[in-house]
Amino acid sequence: MKGLILAGGKGTRLQPATFTMNKHMVPILNRPMILYPLETLKYAGITDIMIVTGGDHIGSIAEFLGDGSDYGVTLTYRVQKDAGGIAQALGLAKDFVGSDSVAVVLGDNIFDYTTFPEKLPEGVGSTHAFLFLALVPDASRFGVPEFKDGKLVGIEEKPKEPKSNYAVTGFYIYPPNVFDIISTLKPSARGELELTDVNNWYVKNDRCAHHLHTGFWSDAGTRNSLKEVIDWAHAREF
Ligand code: G1P
Repeated sequence: MKGLILAGGKGTRLQPATFTMNKHMVPILNRPMILYPLETLKYAGITDIMIVTGGDHIGSIAEFLGDGSDYGVTLTYRVQKDAGGIAQALGLAKDFVGSDSVAVVLGDNIFDYTTFPEKLPEGVGSTHAFLFLALVPDASRFGVPEFKDGKLVGIEEKPKEPKSNYAVTGFYIYPPNVFDIISTLKPSARGELELTDVNNWYVKNDRCAHHLHTGFWSDAGTRNSLKEVIDWAHAREF
């Protein structure tokens, strides 16, 4: 399985720090944000990793991580020129992933990965996608799953009136056909190719497994969520 860290975006919500700094280099205590998704993949046993970056100050990421050997991984880099959305960024990894499966982590998503499941459900990575869900107090900030009789029936991206209190977190596993699905997507109202549309393809085709992540999880892309992550990392001595 290949790994992919999607580290695009301009980091507008962390300005002014991001005027001169890539969002994924913003420190969480003494460690740049990007180390956390890197370690999440490494913990999952994935060491062949592509980083897709966009926006500004991207050289600092390569300067910091280099070829990855200091961190026990092998790194490849790709630049996302347009802010065309997370699914567009994933699409840029098509040749890198080839006929393998791919684990995707969003560059600002911080997980207590020690609580990840030890085994993948049947079919994940070959026919099925795998989503990690988490219970949240503010679901409308996220992709939100809808359940009927306990079955996942759809996902809405940042709904005003969420149909559950769960968020789709930024850790996903896909089979290699994910790139065919991306090639059929149309931009959303905000002009981006949405990962939620990709995920809904797997849901509608009965090929979407999910796991309820109960350990710590937060994005670190806003002032408040960054503070939450810093407090967690401090308490854990991460
Ligand atoms: C993205 C996804 C959303 C997901 C979230 C997790 O949102 O679009 O579905 O719940 O990441 O962090 P964004 O952070 O780009 O607003």
